Amino acid sequence: MSTNLTKRDFAKVAGAAALGMTAPPSAGLAQTSPESQPKSVQGAAATFPEGFSWGVATSAFQIEGAVKEDGRGASIWDSYAHTPGKIRNGDNADVAIDHYHRYKDDVRLMQDMGVKAYRFSIAWPRIFPNGIGQPNAKGLDFYRRLLDALLEAGIEPFPTLYHWDLPQALQDKGGWQSRDTAKAFADYAGYMAGAFSDRTKHFFTINEFFSFVDIGHRGAEATVDGRKIRLELAPGLRLSNAKLNQVRHNAVLAQGLAVQAIRANGIAATRCGPADNLSTAVPAIETPENIKAAEIATREMNAGYLTVILEGKYTDAYLTAAGKDAPKFTEDDLKIISSPVDFIGINVYRPAAYVVASERAPGFRPIPFNKSHPRMLSLWHLLGPEVMYWAPRQMQSLWKTKEIYITENGCGASDEMSANGIVDDSDRIMFLRNHLAHLHRATAEGVPVKGYFHWSLMDNFEWSDGFSNRFGLVYVDYRTQKRTPKLSAAYFREAIAKNAVV
Ligand code: FCB
Repeated sequence: MSTNLTKRDFAKVAGAAALGMTAPPSAGLAQTSPESQPKSVQGAAATFPEGFSWGVATSAFQIEGAVKEDGRGASIWDSYAHTPGKIRNGDNADVAIDHYHRYKDDVRLMQDMGVKAYRFSIAWPRIFPNGIGQPNAKGLDFYRRLLDALLEAGIEPFPTLYHWDLPQALQDKGGWQSRDTAKAFADYAGYMAGAFSDRTKHFFTINEFFSFVDIGHRGAEATVDGRKIRLELAPGLRLSNAKLNQVRHNAVLAQGLAVQAIRANGIAATRCGPADNLSTAVPAIETPENIKAAEIATREMNAGYLTVILEGKYTDAYLTAAGKDAPKFTEDDLKIISSPVDFIGINVYRPAAYVVASERAPGFRPIPFNKSHPRMLSLWHLLGPEVMYWAPRQMQSLWKTKEIYITENGCGASDEMSANGIVDDSDRIMFLRNHLAHLHRATAEGVPVKGYFHWSLMDNFEWSDGFSNRFGLVYVDYRTQKRTPKLSAAYFREAIAKNAVV
């Protein structure tokens, strides 16, 4: 079934808002004039560098469905989603938003939005149903068709190789607790570079180490609005410190081995790097002391992931804190882990902490979030748009990173379709505008951010929240699979067209 969305649909959502009861005509995007555009702090139009990659992001398990089709093997997320009590409302992703069959419509949606780049993920169990062994031709064929459709639409592909859907067969052999999984990942990554580097120049290796490692293998408890919540992702384990530290180590080892395999198998122009959710400390008050303190905090908070990847060693504080539970590793492992990458992707949703300087070691004091600190719909999603400035700036100041992509940023919202068929997502537009304004500050100061991918193109299966939390620029009716751009899609389209904060 075709959703048949055209540029007119976007004009409709933008125009409908302008005509609506609640907003004066000047609020409609169609009326945006250069004079009414937000200005940067210097007073000039807040424009991004030429060639800035405006993109949207998704991941395989969250959108594809067709979990048993064309030889796809099971992943840990299939098993987890079918475990009673794990996903809100008992949802699963067997059908998800049926992207496997509707990918052409979805490419058209991006095209209509003016999107220049698309970050999606390749489902490892579609390529290697058992994680290793013989590749599955039909799985490869799906992504080849997707890549061709993107190229034909003038959209640059940015595939991610691991967005959490580990083949169940590998989990059965120990999953990320086993070093063999790191090797299997590298074999798969190398294979993909060999198969697809004629069609895509970029590969993101692994998505969000902390999420699938710490939240997947330990989980986290938090109190929100006086309620105790548990954050958990597949495989939903509760490992001891020693075992968890080893899983972390295996995950970064996989990153390094994959970089080497991609270099060995892709054509010369192939470029790669991770897409990590850097835990970012934001200076509570912008003074030189607090800026320094925030850098120290960010470096330590990421010691097990980006810090070791970019520095080739675990920090002393990390190893001391782990004590007898520290990961077992060799010097050679550290060399592999820190194999040079071409760029770093960072997923930026919220500050991990606000900090001020402290005279006591390690030099910073994290400030607790006030109970009244505002947040977006997701319980974890505290609001702090300044993070979109500090995260890339710290990548540059701490590690001299030369190329940075914002690989995810967005928010869940309680979107509802009105009787006349429109979705006015005021909070998402507010979120987007404010984050883009802070990102602009970074690029204006020369921080080398090359692109921004909004999470997500469409509403989809939001892990443990199932379908209850919508993150898309495009609304999806989960019964009919009809796609309808929200007002935020019109906002994003305008920003892309102007290459600026609007
Ligand atoms: C990130 C995940 C992504 C999505 C967003 C909301 O942590 O990488 O798949 O669920 O959160």
